[in-house]
Amino acid sequence: MLDTKKIKKDFPIFERYEKAHGKPLVYLDSAATSQTPRQVVEAMDEYYYGYRSNVHRSPYDIGAEATSAYEAARETIARFIGAKGGEMAFTSGATGSANMLALMLGRELKLRAGDELLASIAEHHSNFVPFQELAKAKGASFKTIPIRGADLDYEAAARLISERTKLVTLPLAGNVLGTVHDLSPLIRKAKAVGALTIVDATKAAGHMPIDVKKLGADFLFFSGHKMLGPTGIGVLYGRREFLEALTPAFSGGGTVEKVTAEHSSYKTSPLKFEAGTPNVAGAIGLAHAVAYLEALGVENVQRHTEELVRSAVERLSRVKEVRIISEKDEKKNIGIVSFVVEGMHPHDVAELIGREGVAIRGGHHCAMPLMASLGVPGVCRASFYIYNGERDIVALVTSVEKAIAAFKQHG
Ligand SMILES: Cc1ncc(COP(=O)(O)O)c(C=O)c1O
Repeated sequence: MLDTKKIKKDFPIFERYEKAHGKPLVYLDSAATSQTPRQVVEAMDEYYYGYRSNVHRSPYDIGAEATSAYEAARETIARFIGAKGGEMAFTSGATGSANMLALMLGRELKLRAGDELLASIAEHHSNFVPFQELAKAKGASFKTIPIRGADLDYEAAARLISERTKLVTLPLAGNVLGTVHDLSPLIRKAKAVGALTIVDATKAAGHMPIDVKKLGADFLFFSGHKMLGPTGIGVLYGRREFLEALTPAFSGGGTVEKVTAEHSSYKTSPLKFEAGTPNVAGAIGLAHAVAYLEALGVENVQRHTEELVRSAVERLSRVKEVRIISEKDEKKNIGIVSFVVEGMHPHDVAELIGREGVAIRGGHHCAMPLMASLGVPGVCRASFYIYNGERDIVALVTSVEKAIAAFKQHG
């Protein structure tokens, strides 16, 4: 297990919360957004107070400093996922990346009636709606891979991928079920029929090692804020030949090589995808989040959250009103335990235990098609990261038991 006592010292929110609220913060909502260590905030502070200037265009010392910090951040983050800097553009986050892809591929793929786009039913809306809309706009079909238990139904997926399939987009790890999916066979099958493949790694990044080359997908994206980084920054990885071929979703300053009154030509990847002044501080902050995670060892982070999942599943299973929905095998789980409490709405559970300082989320978690498939209006979701320890799991289970007792008494 990681040394959470030591780690928590890097996250001032815990001390501040306790001072302000007179109770410890049991933060179990890192799947929504993680906390930020001081090293990340200090790196951004250093940029803002030390060398703030625009990048790729300022011909003076701090301009050069900002450009080299921004590009060094790109290299660090690209290396973190086994990519090269030229294969990775900064975006506003996962949702921004997915929408950019839908726009660019919509132009590139020349979709028509009879073509099929495929996603899973367990998708976050951000990796679902943009491609559902794309299919609708082009008269193509949007099909979904069902789940079996807490995992994808791989047999159904293999049957669904056919010569008609033009694009397959899937999550590396689920934001409700927590399952780390075995995507490589599906990616290979999709490639064999000539379909493009996209991986939503938003829940996985910073929680498990990722090697884009081993995974083999054509595109992969994630946000920085779920892996200790700042909000408003994310990345879009793409295979070099695809990035070179695509016309950027957004154009304007920073993206172009030459503009005449009649015509504009674009820079090469990745700059052609970064229209306007980029989120320089965000990129620098995210690179420092990567450095923080690398110092801990991402494998150790994964082992740590697996252990928390094991404990939470074991303890919650003893509460008879609780039904666990997420992946119970901790070796296949990225650090999420989703559950329902029989007879109680997930919002009520989350609110009642929130009063105890236990922060979890209740609801559909931007996965309404999954909720419909599970036949529930929503679930409670506890998600774990490097600052969580066994005491947090005990606090979670105790507060859930208390909420059930209170509900029975007053309900
Ligand atoms: C799996 C997954 N994909 C996409 C997103 C969207 O991320 P963002 O809101 O940072 O764009 C989330 C966020 O909850 C997620 O968990």
